[in-house]
Amino acid sequence: MLYREQIDKSRIPAHIAIIMDGNGRWAKQRGEKRSFGHQVGAETVHVIAEEAARLGVKYLTLYTFSTENWNRPVDEVAALMSLLMDSIEEETFMKNNISFRIIGDINKLPAEVLSRLNQCIKHTSTNTGMCLTLALSYSSKWEITDAIKQIATEINEGKLAIEDITDNTISTHLSTSYMPDPDLLIRTGGEIRLSNYLLWQCAYSELYFCETFWPDFREEEFSKAIYDYQQRERRFGKTSEQI
Ligand code: IPE
Ligand code: IPE
Ligand code: MG
Repeated sequence: MLYREQIDKSRIPAHIAIIMDGNGRWAKQRGEKRSFGHQVGAETVHVIAEEAARLGVKYLTLYTFSTENWNRPVDEVAALMSLLMDSIEEETFMKNNISFRIIGDINKLPAEVLSRLNQCIKHTSTNTGMCLTLALSYSSKWEITDAIKQIATEINEGKLAIEDITDNTISTHLSTSYMPDPDLLIRTGGEIRLSNYLLWQCAYSELYFCETFWPDFREEEFSKAIYDYQQRERRFGKTSEQI
């Protein structure tokens, strides 16, 4: 029986965040270069984005390039940036009514990449279906530090009082302010860690780790993660009887 047929379509998580890991090891297993893994991984992005939109996911947030990934060999970073340029398919987004966004320390991206991304953001901004966000040059520590700087500035300028700071003040100063917190966080590739991704936002997310390398993560694996999520009870600190 396929997981795809077993999932409850009326209880699809509204926001799914994914750490797309394992491209390099997938390629190495095949005696290929790491960049080949990234190429096939980019195809997976389209497959999963279309599937998520079809299932009715409202927000899909993909960890695409971390702040720490700038420390990879120069040729790998260059290959990833050029792949990013080539794999932004506006037609797929238009066809699926997907609005495209990016979060992260994006001014570090090469100018031509940023301009291509901005063009796509603009063209898809009125789409009313799923919101697909790529986290690029992103890390939670960068994002939280940036939020603190903004809040401190507002306090300095007399626009905000210290006693009025709530957890919502912090959420609204993060780059993810336009989306709800993830219901489900998936990490492919076998590592059991968060690698500086959405640390604040995942305070109460359900976590799902699988061994499958990202290039092999297709519709059925995605449904399996959703199915697993649907078997859980989210208690948010309450007792089972209160739910
Ligand atoms: C994830 O795959 C993609 C990026 C981090 C850009 P990796 O490149 O980390 O692949 P592994 O983990 O080395 O196999
Ligand atoms: C996390 O993967 C970042 C992305 C998937 C973009 P990494 O492969 O960089 O993570 P670590 O360094 O192994 O934790
Ligand atoms: Mg990795």
